[in-house]
Amino acid sequence: MPNDVFRKKKIILGVTGCIAAYKACYLTRELKNRGAEVKVVMTPSALQFVAPLTFSTLSGNPVIVNIFPVSQQNGTDVSTWHIDTARWADLILIAPATVNTVAKIAYGFADNALTTLVSAARSPLVVVPAADVDMYMNKTTTANIQKLEELGHYVVYAEEGELASGLSGYGRMADINKIIDSTELVLSGIKKDLNGKKILVTAGPTYEDIDPVRYIGNRSSGKMGYSLAKAAFLRGADVTLISGPSAEAAYPEIKLYKVRSAKEMKAAVTKELKTNDILIMSAAVADYKPAETSQRKIKKEDKLASLRLMQTDDILSSIKKDSAYGTGGKKIIGFALETNDAEKNAAKKLKEKNLDMIVLNSLSDKKSGFEYDSNKITIIGKSGKKKSFSLQSKFQVANNILTEILRMS
Ligand code: CTP
Repeated sequence: MPNDVFRKKKIILGVTGCIAAYKACYLTRELKNRGAEVKVVMTPSALQFVAPLTFSTLSGNPVIVNIFPVSQQNGTDVSTWHIDTARWADLILIAPATVNTVAKIAYGFADNALTTLVSAARSPLVVVPAADVDMYMNKTTTANIQKLEELGHYVVYAEEGELASGLSGYGRMADINKIIDSTELVLSGIKKDLNGKKILVTAGPTYEDIDPVRYIGNRSSGKMGYSLAKAAFLRGADVTLISGPSAEAAYPEIKLYKVRSAKEMKAAVTKELKTNDILIMSAAVADYKPAETSQRKIKKEDKLASLRLMQTDDILSSIKKDSAYGTGGKKIIGFALETNDAEKNAAKKLKEKNLDMIVLNSLSDKKSGFEYDSNKITIIGKSGKKKSFSLQSKFQVANNILTEILRMS
């Protein structure tokens, strides 16, 4: 997958005293696998949960624990290690961050190796809090987390679920993939710039049933739509995702509606668009469906020779025509999947479907489009202005699309 965002990036991974510290081992491995250089810094309480040897083995670097490093040669060690190490880092990621560490960073304490490094750093900081529900929902913690955001740090909020205490609620450390995606955003210089926006995304194919066992479908995996939904959420948007059949998983905070047919997708889009500001229609909606769906399995002895088809409703076209949608002020973004005369066809769709922007992906580009993790797109705006991008991961492509949408509004 063409994604070099992490390659050769120097990351300090701060680990604090919380049971989720074991998940930081997987995080170290994921960061390394993506090409980053990782130095782990542990707080003294983190040592109660995971041995430093685990992190030094996984990261390939010595682990920093002590604020005053112990010299190997009976003397004093380098005196400004905290400044040197802080300046070494392209990014500091603290996962898990206890309520104690969150509070210390919010108020500028520098009483251990990790908080000292944070106070000396010029690089961006990503904080991933984790705690039991009452500690996490505590008013002081909530205010401290908000303070971190106000200070310009990126916070990956804890998720809801079962906790180590047996209680259930908010406090579980965010999923590793979500932490990686958030880190990628911050490394790319992107902030929570979609705060307050309500975005509706469609993804995947639609299936049009022939009988109870067969359907007409297409090869869309849903990866592009799910990447858009995830990227929009991590940039602060309130996201609703309407998905046709897909094996992809959304973050738990994304409102997910699973649909099957073009008709179901149209009904869901119609309803949800009323309360959203932006629609990104990345689904590969079927253009044709069987004229009748058989209620029983069609048997060999039925000697079916042909299938009568009829067109489905075009969802995007119906939006602009039907005033009941109340699309005033909303931004509507379509996709165009073409095999030939790509730009000409995309421009035609932009005009005919009265879109604000169209994202063209051409199936003739290698490793681009359906089923792949990467995509190569050209964005065409209402004014006709074009912008072409190189082959990138679908997450990067999603971020480019979102940035263009922001520029447009
Ligand atoms: N689309 C839609 N409703 C449909 C079919 C497509 O809203 N019934 C949307 C897609 O989600 C996409 C855009 O229209 O955003 C273009 O889809 P595409 O399949 O490229 O084009 P079509 O309009 O279906 O035309 P053709 O298949 O002939 O290229």
